[in-house]
Amino acid sequence: MTRPFLFGTNFKMNQTPSESAAFYTRLTETVKIPKDVNLFIIPPFTSLAAVTDAAQTGPDALWIGAQNVHWASDGAYTGEISVPMLAALGIDLVLLGHAERRRDFHETDANLNKKVHAVLAAGLRVLLAVGETAEERAFAVSEETVARQLKIALHGVADIERATSLVQIAYEPVWSIGAGGTPAKPDDIDPVANAIRRTLAAVLGEPGANVPILYGGSVDPSNAGSFTALSDIDGLFVGRAAWTVEGFLATFKASLAGRNEGDRVSG
Ligand code: 13P
Repeated sequence: MTRPFLFGTNFKMNQTPSESAAFYTRLTETVKIPKDVNLFIIPPFTSLAAVTDAAQTGPDALWIGAQNVHWASDGAYTGEISVPMLAALGIDLVLLGHAERRRDFHETDANLNKKVHAVLAAGLRVLLAVGETAEERAFAVSEETVARQLKIALHGVADIERATSLVQIAYEPVWSIGAGGTPAKPDDIDPVANAIRRTLAAVLGEPGANVPILYGGSVDPSNAGSFTALSDIDGLFVGRAAWTVEGFLATFKASLAGRNEGDRVSG
């Protein structure tokens, strides 16, 4: 069984609609995508229409993702966006549970479970982010933390036919993300990625083995390959280093080199 390789970037609260569309167009004109690889970009909500328009007039080569969604399909939820609104734009993927949303907007695992079900019910892909804080790491509960996050957010998913094929996990240790983060070493990531793999099998059964696990947090061209060489890591989820087309391409190239290296090591 070979899991697909995924690579993408989260623009966070950056880039106007025209900047995002220009990024999409230049990237799709330049990048060469191997056949078992999926690339994605996750612009802010205000850029989604411009990027899906660019995908209609140019090559539709990348998954286009949203950074969050509400669990209800409509209603009195000022400031929120629903799954049908994203589906109407032709969005492929929804990021749920990013560390910045958990930290700054009190995103809970129980609410994430509602969001996961809403996204999967519409047939869209979920990119579920999990990861331990520096404090949880210091108390040596990283594996328990990600297991708990996964068990709650994915509760009930195994009962939905074919839903597992729409799920991907981003493992982003909170302490490694962003300008103030400490870049992780592969040895930090490997045991937690193993724990995620075991938890996916426990929660989703056999199809859990096909769910891709991406690593994210201070990834750049110098370290990308060291993460993708790990046997349980199936791709990367990048912030700052991939916010230019050149940075995206350089980090993607380094991630593929590491993946090939890992294949050789594990035979
Ligand atoms: P950085 O790569 O900037 O650390 O951000 C990672 C991230 O949060 C991707 O969602």
